[in-house]
Amino acid sequence: MDTFVIEGGRRLSGSLRVNGSKNAALPLLVCSLLTDQPVTLKDVPDLADIRNMVRLLGELGCERITTPEPTTLTLKVHDATQSHARYDIVRTMRASISALGPLLARRGYARVSMPGGCSIGERPVDLHLRGLRALGADITLNGGDIVARAPRGRLQGAKIFLGGQFGSTVLGTANVMSAATLATGTTIIESAACEPEIVDVANLLNRMGARITGAGSPRITIQGVDRLNGAEHVVMPDRIEAGTLMCAAAITNGDLVLENCPLDALMAAREVLSTAGVHVSEMGSGADPMRTTCRVTCERVLRPAEFTTQPHPGFPTDLQAQFMALLTLADGNSIITERVFPERFLHVAELSRMGAHLLRQGATVVVQGVRKLVGAPVMASDLRASAGLVLAGMAAQGTTIVHRVYHLDRGYEKLEDRLCAVGASIRRVDDKELGGSPTEG
Ligand code: EPZ
Repeated sequence: MDTFVIEGGRRLSGSLRVNGSKNAALPLLVCSLLTDQPVTLKDVPDLADIRNMVRLLGELGCERITTPEPTTLTLKVHDATQSHARYDIVRTMRASISALGPLLARRGYARVSMPGGCSIGERPVDLHLRGLRALGADITLNGGDIVARAPRGRLQGAKIFLGGQFGSTVLGTANVMSAATLATGTTIIESAACEPEIVDVANLLNRMGARITGAGSPRITIQGVDRLNGAEHVVMPDRIEAGTLMCAAAITNGDLVLENCPLDALMAAREVLSTAGVHVSEMGSGADPMRTTCRVTCERVLRPAEFTTQPHPGFPTDLQAQFMALLTLADGNSIITERVFPERFLHVAELSRMGAHLLRQGATVVVQGVRKLVGAPVMASDLRASAGLVLAGMAAQGTTIVHRVYHLDRGYEKLEDRLCAVGASIRRVDDKELGGSPTEG
């Protein structure tokens, strides 16, 4: 297994381009199941999760057509008889659940393995099933698989409340919105997710001939149509990668220019950065607020901050670990509360190994700022926690070894190469070179 060896204490300086968004690209890819024509996505990041999704779509009869540009993916259904998303793919990538709605809407039948939990929480899909049943689907569980049928082969529009105890569901909204595009009549989704990735999916679907209004607001209205066509779409920039790179600049007291940065989707994060003494200044004309060029610098001494993670437009849970790493070095006590995935704190113990002072009380962590972090061997546990550990390693004194960076490869493309290009010292080595990965306690 791959491991990062990080030499800390190097300031980042230079410019980086923000890649296309993983969390937009995944639900965008499954939209290709809704038509028999080619769907082309541009600026698709080269990530493990994307490769897994393309593999899953291939098993569902939707093949990738080769294109000259590696970041451009064209997909076209050639066999609509395979509609089983098998456990061994779904268990590696829970976003596979987003194929359920499109398969059901287009083919009248879908069998998708029930995704399991993961290290950040249980990850139920009850809201997905509530929404699809409201559209008339007959859904049963059979041997760990969700088996869904549309009586008489077509879904019916409905008024659906999709809110849950933690607020809205992002992939649940994508699932139901996609399915409703081919239902008869009108669908209203109340308490829909407002994430920018949902807006990106709605934009592609409307390009394909769907009739969606209200995406980005808590109420989305979909007028069903009889068929959808192929289309082209440029994937929105990755706001979580952008926020991670902002933290990388700040934690190394660096000076970084970010291109293709979706600043308009990062207002909550930018507010916390400003409180902490991190300056994000927009450069250039600002023609497209979702594709800006901005410069990140910070005060010599970081200030403490407080934030609670919430559905968009609140502070994104996917930046919680990265901001915790940053605030371990603030001059004072910060308070972080996790409202989306209350167990999403596996990075706390690892950051503590590096000298961070973290006091967890349930879904809240008090971060007592320290003057320095000290490099140590640490274990990555999930995608964003591993990003937080890399950030801490870049700021720590000495060497940090981050084990199991395959977690990182799910959501960040060649992160070590890109950070080294602006001054970091990160080597990717095989565990064997270091005497093997530590086993579970
Ligand atoms: C998406 O996951 C993202 N993944 C996650 O990013 C992100 O953390 C999450 O949204 C929240 O923003 C992708 O887009 C591929 P949810 P999703 O359904 O849609 C509960 C990353 O690091 N819930 O919005 O699966 C759930 O337990 C990943 O890139 C139900 O109760 O998340 C959670 O508490 C991690 N029932 C809350 O809602 C359901 O049916 C939000 O989950 C569905 C969700």
